[in-house]
Amino acid sequence: MAPRVALRSPMRRDAAEMWRLARKSVDPNSPYSYLMLEEYFSDTCAVAELDDEMVGFVTGFRPFSHPETLFIWQIAVDESTQGMGIAGQLLDHVVKRPHVPRLRYLEATVTPSNEQSIRLFRGFARRWETECVEEELFADSDFPDDTSDNHEAEVRFRIGAL
Ligand SMILES: CC(C)(COP(=O)(O)OP(=O)(O)OC[C@H]1O[C@@H](n2cnc3c(N)ncnc32)[C@H](O)[C@@H]1OP(=O)(O)O)[C@@H](O)C(=O)NCCC(=O)NCCS
Repeated sequence: MAPRVALRSPMRRDAAEMWRLARKSVDPNSPYSYLMLEEYFSDTCAVAELDDEMVGFVTGFRPFSHPETLFIWQIAVDESTQGMGIAGQLLDHVVKRPHVPRLRYLEATVTPSNEQSIRLFRGFARRWETECVEEELFADSDFPDDTSDNHEAEVRFRIGAL
C-alpha cells in the first residue's frame, strides 16, 4: 500500500536537499539550479515528505511557447522508498494544481534503459486514460563526446490530452 506522503511546493530550505537527493539518483544539476527552480518555478515543482524527511521531488516548467504543456525536468525518489507509488503521487499532485491556462499535456524525456521511469510515465498515461506518444528527442550524438560517461539518447514521452 502507498505510504501517506505529504506533498507541497518546494521552499528555499528544500533546495539543498533536492540537490543531495538528485546527486544520489539522477544526473545532478548544480545546487544553484535547485534554488532557481524553487524561486521561479515552485508552482510546477513539488517535494514529497515522509515523517518530515524529503523522500522525493519533481521539477518541471511550462514552456512559454506551449503553456498548456508541463515539461517534467527531473523526478527522483529516494532508493529506500522506491516502488511505493511516490513518484506517481508527485506527478498527479503537480498536474492537479490549478494552472492558467489549464494543462493538457505532460512531457518528459527518458533514456531507453531507465525501466522505472518508462513504467512511471506509461503508468501515468494509463491512470489518466490518455495517450502516450514516445519518440526520440535527443540522439546520443547530440551530447558531448568528451566526457567520461557516454550519454544515451533521450526519448520524449508526450502524454495527453489530460
Ligand atoms: C523513476 C523513479 C522516480 C520512480 O519512482 P517510484 O516512486 O519508485 O515510482 P512508483 O512507485 O510511482 O512506480 C512507477 C512505476 O515504476 C515501477 N518501478 C518502481 N520501482 C521499480 C524497480 N526497481 N524496477 C522496475 N520497476 C519499478 C513501478 O512498478 C511502477 O510501474 P507500474 O505502474 O507499471 O507498476 C525512481 O525509480 C527514481 O528516482 N529513479 C532514479 C532517478 C530517475 O531515473 N529519474 C527519472 C529521470 S529524471
